[in-house]
Amino acid sequence: MAAATERAWCCTVCGHVYRGDAPPECCPSCGAAPTEFEPYDEAQESAAAAPAIEWQDVGAAEELARQPVQEIEVGHTTIALVCRDGQFSAISGKCNHVGGPLGHGHLEGEHVVCPWHSWRFDGATGEGKTGCACEGDKVPTYAVKVENGRVLVSAAEATPRVHKPRTPHPLTKIALRGQPGGPAVTDPLRVVGISTTNMDVSNPRYSTSDRLLNEALGRARDCGAETRLVRLAELQFRACEGYYSKSSRACIWPCSITQMDPADQMQVVYDAFVRWGDIVIVATPIRWGQASSLYYKMVERMNCIQNQETIANRHLMRTKVVGLIITGGQDNIQAVAGQMLTFFGELGCQFPQYPFIAHSRGWSAEDMENNVRYVEESKDLHEAAAGLVDRCLDTCRALLGVSIGAGHVPRGGRKAHELDVHAQI
Ligand code: FES
Repeated sequence: MAAATERAWCCTVCGHVYRGDAPPECCPSCGAAPTEFEPYDEAQESAAAAPAIEWQDVGAAEELARQPVQEIEVGHTTIALVCRDGQFSAISGKCNHVGGPLGHGHLEGEHVVCPWHSWRFDGATGEGKTGCACEGDKVPTYAVKVENGRVLVSAAEATPRVHKPRTPHPLTKIALRGQPGGPAVTDPLRVVGISTTNMDVSNPRYSTSDRLLNEALGRARDCGAETRLVRLAELQFRACEGYYSKSSRACIWPCSITQMDPADQMQVVYDAFVRWGDIVIVATPIRWGQASSLYYKMVERMNCIQNQETIANRHLMRTKVVGLIITGGQDNIQAVAGQMLTFFGELGCQFPQYPFIAHSRGWSAEDMENNVRYVEESKDLHEAAAGLVDRCLDTCRALLGVSIGAGHVPRGGRKAHELDVHAQI
């Protein structure tokens, strides 16, 4: 019996080609939603790769030889033109990873280094470098010749693109509660506590925000929820290195650093916050009128969560409930809370009524010994921490089974979105 014909689908976010009867639940390469896939016409692609060569003059050899790698357009095809030791070659201008512009990369030996996440492809054969994450991959190559001092390139693929099958990163696919692979709606709710307090963890000290966070998690357990505590001070993770500043599409989920550096422990936060928890309680001290530096280090690395909305129409945080605990020797609580609420709101999180609790001794009473005693002994503060968790649990239960933001989020007026009115410069 003849096997059923498999269809092919192309991810419009990163160019990944998927074969199956329908688009995948999410792109195995970049995590984009199934709505971002288009049918992929392989017959048309192989026609494009047919041997009939039409040469196009792309410029003077002397001038083009000045740059080891440069991007050129040949018809509708973007190509990385390489010149090494006076010899020209041409490979696709689109990286196999998530479509980075290889023509804007640099040459390292015979390899073109992608400017986004440093995948390396042979500038002549298009093959991924041995030992690199792209080993086994190939980007298309194109015929090049020099005649009468002019460089001529053919837009017909001389060799095709090859994507080596890879196991997607475990965080690529997020199964929500009630979905296949996710917890059942009736399973206990899950509460994550994130401590952003910095300290010498081998010589711990008293932290007022941690004290109230522990109170909150204890209440969650008393209510039958599962809990998980993440202390940022115990994790080794790199600061955000600005992939978004290269291009919004270079900031990917899971985070570029998480995918490239197995030793980076921000994965612990992503796993608890994005995949595991239904409720997240973030606790921060106030430092010079701001949240803690570890809090900012964490949220910069969370840009990849928000950016999925922008580049892939993918909502990773649809029904996540966030509550905040803010304590400090000095004031500025409302400013800190406002900034934190804005950030988690931008991620798509939900908030309970009265979404934060806070405490400070104030400007003229920054006596930390008394502050510690106050937080330790105050029944009011402990009840407030428990009450915050109660409200988060109520909000979470009310949202179970409710579809929030499952569809397309209109992007007009949002970050990094090109409006449909052309600017006049
Ligand atoms: S897009 Fe080229 S390495 Fe990521």
